[in-house]
Amino acid sequence: MSKSGKDSLLINKIAAGILTAGIIFWGANRIAHVLVPDESPKTPAIAITAPQTAAPAAAMAVAAGPETIIPLLATADVPKGAAFVQQQCAACHTLTSGGAAGVGPNLYGVVGGPMFAGSGFTYSAAVKAKAKGNWDYASMASWLYDPSAFAPGTAMGYPGIKNTQTRADVVAYLRTLSASPLPLPTPDEVKAASAAAPAAAAAAPGGAPAPAAAPSIDTMFAKADLSKGQDFFQQQCSACHTLNKGGANGVGPNLYGVVGAKMFATAGFNYSDAVKAKANGTWTADTMSDWLLSPSSFANGTMMGYPGIKNDQTRADVIAYLNKNSDSPIKLPGT
Ligand code: HEC
Ligand code: HEC
Repeated sequence: MSKSGKDSLLINKIAAGILTAGIIFWGANRIAHVLVPDESPKTPAIAITAPQTAAPAAAMAVAAGPETIIPLLATADVPKGAAFVQQQCAACHTLTSGGAAGVGPNLYGVVGGPMFAGSGFTYSAAVKAKAKGNWDYASMASWLYDPSAFAPGTAMGYPGIKNTQTRADVVAYLRTLSASPLPLPTPDEVKAASAAAPAAAAAAPGGAPAPAAAPSIDTMFAKADLSKGQDFFQQQCSACHTLNKGGANGVGPNLYGVVGAKMFATAGFNYSDAVKAKANGTWTADTMSDWLLSPSSFANGTMMGYPGIKNDQTRADVIAYLNKNSDSPIKLPGT
C-alpha cells in the first residue's frame, strides 16, 4: 500500500480548489448513511481526493481528468451499475418514471434528456449555469467523475465516481432508465474517443503511477500543525467521530486515544467485518497514515464513508492531533 499517495498529488491539486470541505463533509456523511445498512461495493469506487489546501482557480482545468467511458459502454456491467446506484445515489435520487424529487432530482430518462431540467426540483444556480442541451455520454461521465468540478457550487454533495469502469457501469445503467434509451456510441464514436484518450489516460488517476518523488509522511510529523489538524478534524471527521475522553460512539467510534490503541476495538462500537479482518495489533503512525490515506483501500468494504486525506502534511497534522488526544500519546517518527 502506498504511504504517500504520490500518484494522487496531481489530481489532489486540481480537486483542492474545487471541492469545499462542506460539500465533501456533507457528501461523505450522506454516503455513510447509504453505506451503513448495505453491503459495501466490491470495488472501491470512491478513490477520491479530499480538499486540503486552497489552490488557484486556474488549477480547476479538468485537463488531467477522467479517462473516457465511451469504449466501455457497450460491455459495461449494467447490474453492477444498478447496485452501485442503489447504494450510493438512491438516498438522494428516485429512479422510477414519475418518481418524486428528493434531495436530488428524479433520474428517470436523464441520459439523453435535457440537463438539469427535472420537474419539481429546484436546481442550484451553479448547475443551471452549466446546462447546455441534453446529457450525452461524455457530459454525463464528466459530471459523475466530479460534480463539483463540473459545476462548482453544485448542491449534489457527492464526491464523484473516480473508477472509470464503475462510471461506465453507472452510466450504462442510468441509460436503461428510459422508455427510449439513448443509442450506445457508434463504432466511429468509440474510435474517436479512444484516439483522444491516451493523453488524458496518462495523466488520469488510476493511469500510470507518477514517478516516486513525494517524501515519506515520516518527515512531516516534526512540523505537524496541531491547530490545523484540529480544524480539519472538526470539519471533516467530527460529524461521525467524537474525540473527547469517554465520548459516545456515533456513526464512527469515539477516537480518544486511538493512536497506539488496539485497532478497531473501541468498546461498544459495531465494526464492519471489512475492518475487523484488517485489525492487526495496535495503530502506529504508519498504519494510521495508510488508513487515513484511503480507508477503502486499507479495508475494502469499510463503513467509513470518507474518501481519505490525500495531502501528506494534512494527514500528518490530523494524526498528530489525534495522538495528542490521548492519555498516552506515542512518539511520532521524527519528533
Ligand atoms: C447527497 C445527495 C446526492 C447523492 C448521494 C447523489 N446525488 Fe445526484 N444530485 C443531487 C442534487 C442535489 C442534484 C442537483 C444538483 C444541483 O442542483 O446543484 C443532483 C443532480 C444529479 C444529476 C443531474 C440530473 C439532471 O436533472 O440533469 C445526475 C445525473 C445525478 N445527480 C446522478 C447521481 C448519481 C449517479 C449518483 C450516485 C453515483 C448521485 N447523483 C448521488 C444529490 C445527490
Ligand atoms: C461519514 C462518517 C465518517 C467520517 C466523515 C469519518 N469517519 Fe472515521 N470511521 C467511520 C466509521 C463508520 C468507522 C468504522 C469503520 C468500520 O467499521 O468499517 C471509522 C473508523 C475510524 C478509525 C479507526 C478507529 C478504531 O477504532 O480503530 C479512525 C482512526 C478514524 N475513523 C478516523 C477518522 C478521521 C481522522 C476522519 C476525518 C479525516 C474520519 N475518520 C472521518 C466513520 C467516519
